[in-house]
Amino acid sequence: MDGQNLVLMGPGVCQPGKGKEVFGSQGSTGEGAAVVYRVGLLGLGTVGTGVVEILQRPPHPLLQAVELAAVGVRSLDKPRRVAIPPERLTTDLERIVSDPDIDVVIELMGGLEPARSLILKAIDHGKPVITANKAVIARYGEEIFRAAAQARVAVLLEAAVGGGIPVVQALQQSLQASRIQAVWGIINGTTNFILSQMAQEGSSFAEALAQAQARGYAEADPSADVEGWDAADKIAILASLAFGVSVPREAIPCEGIRSISPTDIRYAREWGYTFKLLAIAQRAGVPGAETALDVRVHPTLLPLTHPLANIHGVDNAVWVQGDPLGQVVLAGPGAGQGPTASAVVGDLLTLLAHLQTGAHLPNPLWGLPASPPVASLLPLAEVQSEFYVRVLAQDRPGVMGAIGTCFGRHGVSLESITQKECHQELAEIVVLTHTVREADCRQALAEIQQLPQVAGIPSLFRVLR
Ligand SMILES: NC(=O)c1ccc[n+]([C@@H]2O[C@H](COP(=O)([O-])OP(=O)(O)OC[C@H]3O[C@@H](n4cnc5c(N)ncnc54)[C@H](OP(=O)(O)O)[C@@H]3O)[C@@H](O)[C@H]2O)c1
Repeated sequence: MDGQNLVLMGPGVCQPGKGKEVFGSQGSTGEGAAVVYRVGLLGLGTVGTGVVEILQRPPHPLLQAVELAAVGVRSLDKPRRVAIPPERLTTDLERIVSDPDIDVVIELMGGLEPARSLILKAIDHGKPVITANKAVIARYGEEIFRAAAQARVAVLLEAAVGGGIPVVQALQQSLQASRIQAVWGIINGTTNFILSQMAQEGSSFAEALAQAQARGYAEADPSADVEGWDAADKIAILASLAFGVSVPREAIPCEGIRSISPTDIRYAREWGYTFKLLAIAQRAGVPGAETALDVRVHPTLLPLTHPLANIHGVDNAVWVQGDPLGQVVLAGPGAGQGPTASAVVGDLLTLLAHLQTGAHLPNPLWGLPASPPVASLLPLAEVQSEFYVRVLAQDRPGVMGAIGTCFGRHGVSLESITQKECHQELAEIVVLTHTVREADCRQALAEIQQLPQVAGIPSLFRVLR
């Protein structure tokens, strides 16, 4: 590291977060004095290693002022891809976040605890924090940003959502000049890879998941990805940024992609749609209720012409609609070592540039609001949507009429009702509804399920345009 060649002037030169004045290795005084920022890194796994690699060959001159002073890990014996002087590697992470000589803490350990406590402790010791930890920010963002506001330090989180896509800063800053109406995202690369495989190769969910695992895109226990929990963490953060509210993470309705079959993918394509796991945050349109939001994660049929329909593989994308902005799409690599590390170091650069101007307080546009109103989330039953329904029924005259009648009784108007293939005397009937209240659609389906000719309703998915 460049910082290793520099000699510190001695303790007490700087306030935390402002850097220390140092002299070059020639030992000159006065002229040539530079500022070094001592970084404490918590975690040297996938992303931490990527960060160290970028800092070892700094792509921007400001980053030459960084000294990696301490790196916290769980095991000192693990082989590491990057060389860290042994005296800087430690398992005492508490010491890093309370060390008065550390100016900036970068948290890349993941998990809820001890990550949350260490972030809070770093803030308490007056240190700005950079984190990629969506799980912590989605659940404890309010607590962390309240503490940061009190301590007057910055917390930056670009890498927490969308990997290398600069969506956090965009939502915090430039896009705030518009009244944002909706943020839709493909913000989980694993599920997008699985759905792309299913669409392109005709694979089943299990086959596509095995492919994702073989390529290192999915973990042995893929639940957080395929059940939509990871995307829910991220949309909670994006919704908070976009709408200036606190979004109760546990209240976000969340459905995963396990139930999508190759048959559904094929039928959807025949109608000009593709399946995506969408994370949605939009104004609920409740008159007089500014904080009423419609936030949800679920598999969605999108028209092939939608900008998000052409995001394939592990890529991510976020579509933002605002007034007078119009529509903006940010797309790119949503995870992985390089892109995520790039976002982390981008935050570090932003922070250093800010500190170098002599500013002592964080930029007010950074982070989440410190004490935001809590959003009230629209219950799924009240959501208005179009639906795709696949019904298995006996191949007899009058079945389609009976199904249509049930829908009609609940005010669900239909765009189309089509009989598809027949298997062992059971016909597949696919229904596309117009925009209806979800509760009405579900009530109609409960009735349809009871029809003697109906053997089952394997699929119910929402359609967005
Ligand atoms: N990987 C990605 O593509 C990606 C993308 C976006 C965001 N993120 C986020 O970035 C963060 C880091 O992810 P990652 O993939 O780099 O994780 P990782 O590979 O599992 O690395 C975690 C690192 O933290 C250390 N660590 C974990 N718990 C610890 C504890 N209790 N005490 C001390 N050290 C501990 C580990 O130490 P040892 O090395 O000694 O085990 C390891 O170095 C997570 O919040 C993740 O959600 C990751």
